[in-house]
Amino acid sequence: MKRRRAIVTGITGQDGSYLAEFLLEKGYQVYGMVRRSSSENFERIQHIMGDLELVQADLLDQLSIINIVKKVRPVEIYNLASQSFVPTSFEQPVLTGEFTALGVTRMLEAVKLVDRSIRFYQASTSEMFGMAPHSPQTLTTPLHPRSPYGVAKVYGHWITINYRESYKIYAVSGILFNHESPRRGKEFITRKITDAVARIKLGRQKELRLGNLEAKRDWGFAGDYVRAMWMMLQKPRPEDYIVATGESHSVREFAQIAFRHVGLDWKKYVVVDPSFYRPAEVHTLCGDPSKAKRKLKWNPKVSFRELVSMMVDADLELLSKP
Ligand code: NAP
Ligand code: GDD
Repeated sequence: MKRRRAIVTGITGQDGSYLAEFLLEKGYQVYGMVRRSSSENFERIQHIMGDLELVQADLLDQLSIINIVKKVRPVEIYNLASQSFVPTSFEQPVLTGEFTALGVTRMLEAVKLVDRSIRFYQASTSEMFGMAPHSPQTLTTPLHPRSPYGVAKVYGHWITINYRESYKIYAVSGILFNHESPRRGKEFITRKITDAVARIKLGRQKELRLGNLEAKRDWGFAGDYVRAMWMMLQKPRPEDYIVATGESHSVREFAQIAFRHVGLDWKKYVVVDPSFYRPAEVHTLCGDPSKAKRKLKWNPKVSFRELVSMMVDADLELLSKP
């Protein structure tokens, strides 16, 4: 029997690697879109490389995207690729707009031109809520992004809805709150903390310099969240969903728990460094996942404390390898 084909953009990223594993387990033939680079960046997908097909294209290059969609003829496309680090978006706002905003239109145009029956998932984000007027955030909360990244994602969200309404394409926007894992990039706060905790425990680092300790996020496990992406594309009708835990914790709390996990007192090591403050901060995010729970029967399996322990243990193991 012919296997269902899916294209995953951003396959070399955190979510791309978990989603690829998940789709392979479901029996899909998975095509990962990768961009040309002078050195390969496949650490997160190394263990499944033999089961994947990699196809080269770039979010900046319309024709390359059309060509891979024509070549693969997928039933589903998961658009996870983007410039995803908020501080970089302040430094490179135009490039962030090209990747994270217009890149979505380029993907949707390829679907429109090649085959309108392809189901399309757009990786939207809680960053779109930014300065939210209430908590928890729901699908009707007004969007007030606070970074060029957040602004670009608002465009991606609305262009996805626009192609659904204009061309009847099965396109959904999944508004995912922060999700983390041992595969998270080390520039993001959770991994920056767990990597430092492991280094400090092993005597390889003395202090940890952080920015705003009072920022609060609704943190879940990436492995749980990619399941929701797939579930969204299996429903009879395309709809948008929020994926979150419904719990919010501060950066301070994350650090406290991570240090305590290895028997250390965070106060002895964490130094507040204003150079990590952002031009505009998103102070608090907390999502309402009730629609995903009700309609998709989705539930997160990993709790906040389990997530912190999982990440610290993974970093300790990684650094202890000879
Ligand atoms: P990530 O680890 O930063 O991965 C980003 C991916 O995008 C990488 O594979 C990267 O490829 C690729 N990419 C960047 N620019 C590209 C371009 N011009 N052409 C082709 N590929 C390009 O991000 P993530 O945490 O997995 O997140 C996945 C998606 O969900 C992103 O769109 C992110 O904005 C969104 N999101 C994430 C979260 C979260 O908490 N993780 C929450 C909500 C939404 P290279 O390896 O070549 O750089
Ligand atoms: N990165 C970082 N480094 N963040 C810090 C630091 C630091 O040293 N100190 C404090 N923070 C605070 C940030 O100011 C922010 O309020 C919070 O920690 C989380 O920062 P990040 O982990 O960088 O994530 P983010 O919330 O800005 O963005 C992530 O989540 C979004 C979903 O809400 C990214 O994955 C985005 O791509 C994603 O859309």
